[in-house]
Amino acid sequence: MIRSILQSLGKSAGTEIPVGPVAGTVYQPGFFEAKDLETAKDIAVSPVPGMSVDERWIHETDFVVDMIGSRLGINENNRILDFGCGPGRLSRALIRRFGCSVIAVDMAERMRKISVEYVDSPCFQVFSLEEFDAKIKDGLSVDFGLASWVLQHCMLPAAEIARIANALIPDAPFLLINGNERLVPVEHDASSITWVGDNQDVDTLMRARFTELERLSFPEELAPGITAAELNAVGSISWWRRTG
Ligand SMILES: C[S@@+](CC[C@H](N)C(=O)[O-])C[C@H]1O[C@@H](n2cnc3c(N)ncnc32)[C@H](O)[C@@H]1O
Repeated sequence: MIRSILQSLGKSAGTEIPVGPVAGTVYQPGFFEAKDLETAKDIAVSPVPGMSVDERWIHETDFVVDMIGSRLGINENNRILDFGCGPGRLSRALIRRFGCSVIAVDMAERMRKISVEYVDSPCFQVFSLEEFDAKIKDGLSVDFGLASWVLQHCMLPAAEIARIANALIPDAPFLLINGNERLVPVEHDASSITWVGDNQDVDTLMRARFTELERLSFPEELAPGITAAELNAVGSISWWRRTG
């Protein structure tokens, strides 16, 4: 069943989509169940050389929100999707800067709970994947969406991309900040989790429902401890438009 749904999702991209992590591993979504805000921050943005989690939390958030503000005229009439919101780092900053409302989604129940406390705004609503699907079925739509450091970790990125596209109005812009490597949490042994890659290419999967508009580099000043080249080897920033 899952295989046939995914294969039909992938058909327009002409892509054969695997249905799970590499053979012999067991997907461990529990990795994202943070116990408190500090742990949630560590999961959302790990430290990079020369920059602590808290410094990255502040600088990268400012950079992303400035970039959005310089491209889109977001105001209190807009509704934004923060897919894989984690503790609500970007949701909170977007609401404070633009007065917009945010529909956030996160797979992890603990992340959702922490995000409600951290964002602390009536303009913020957060849903599980199942709740989000039901909302879309009831007609929910958003004007703009983003996913930051999420899709590289999803076991089924094609399914999440389809969910995101289904929630966006036609032609809506979408910001993807994503790792260049697939890192899916799986069971390592009875007591620990490790990361595995697979052959799913998120950019290729995106093209089933989106058109890429632009690819940007992270600026050097974002992380003074490493070069822009090192930073850009880790992840990418790309802007898309919903076309499917
Ligand atoms: C590295 S954190 C990034 C958090 C936030 N976007 C940020 O940039 O601060 C990844 C988040 O994605 C969520 N996540 C992972 N797989 C997901 C999926 N399939 N659907 C929704 N959320 C997912 C995790 O629970 C976690 O909160």
